[in-house]
Amino acid sequence: MKTLNLVFLGPPGAGKGTQAQRISEKLGLKRITPGDILRKEVEKGTRLGKEVAGYMEKGELVPDEMVLEIIGEELERVGQGFILDGFPRTVAQAKGLDRILESKKWLLHAVVFLDVPDDEIVKRLSARRVCPSCGAVYNMITSPPRNNETCDRCGAHLVRRGDDESETIRKRLEVYTKETAPLIDYYEKKGLLVRIDGARSLDEVTSLIEKALEGLNWNEQERGPTKPFG
Ligand code: AP5
Repeated sequence: MKTLNLVFLGPPGAGKGTQAQRISEKLGLKRITPGDILRKEVEKGTRLGKEVAGYMEKGELVPDEMVLEIIGEELERVGQGFILDGFPRTVAQAKGLDRILESKKWLLHAVVFLDVPDDEIVKRLSARRVCPSCGAVYNMITSPPRNNETCDRCGAHLVRRGDDESETIRKRLEVYTKETAPLIDYYEKKGLLVRIDGARSLDEVTSLIEKALEGLNWNEQERGPTKPFG
């Protein structure tokens, strides 16, 4: 398969991180996850981390210009063949991404949108546990670790993410609806949207994404899918 430049879009808890991890491993793509980058800055207590911590704790978006700077640097570092997981999240970020890609003469090949209803999201995020050491993600209902709350990969004690409290989940969903959902239309109009039923099981969602990517029907300029998938 050709080298793909992809965006994974969807509400909080839709499974973007889980699926981006699986698909990036299968297709040899590099994963760029602003949420993880920002959490590391907060943990390390850097100047950027101190600036963004308040937004993240409240479930609000970090200002566009900060995120765009991070993404610009990451794209420069990793080159083509990437999955942007959780970026863009506003129309301003999407336009910023268009400018970055245009300046490099790179194409965005598809935007994988994981469609999951709110009630399923609340269930998933309430049961999510993450490994603070290696970053592995679990779900105490659908994909629990083998030993209680211990990471299968590295043995660290699993934790709940600070923004997975019910009040903050509600806020993140509100922010998603207002700021991020308009991107569905933005990318649909560009002919790039690949809509996937993200409410299915983990393996089913992975296979739907794989099939959709294999079936991408490129037009002459290789400028994204010419018919809808999912
Ligand atoms: P970020 O870390 O990106 O959080 P998010 O978008 O809210 O997404 P999540 O990581 O919560 O969920 P996910 O879709 O990756 O789902 P996951 O695979 O973990 O962002 C955090 C914060 O950083 C933001 O609030 C903001 O402040 C800031 N930020 C980040 N990017 C920004 C940007 N571009 N602009 C501005 N600010 C930004 O799955 C969730 C759970 O469900 C897991 O337990 C998993 O095991 C389970 N699960 C997944 N798929 C399935 C399935 N099919 N069936 C059953 N369970 C499943």
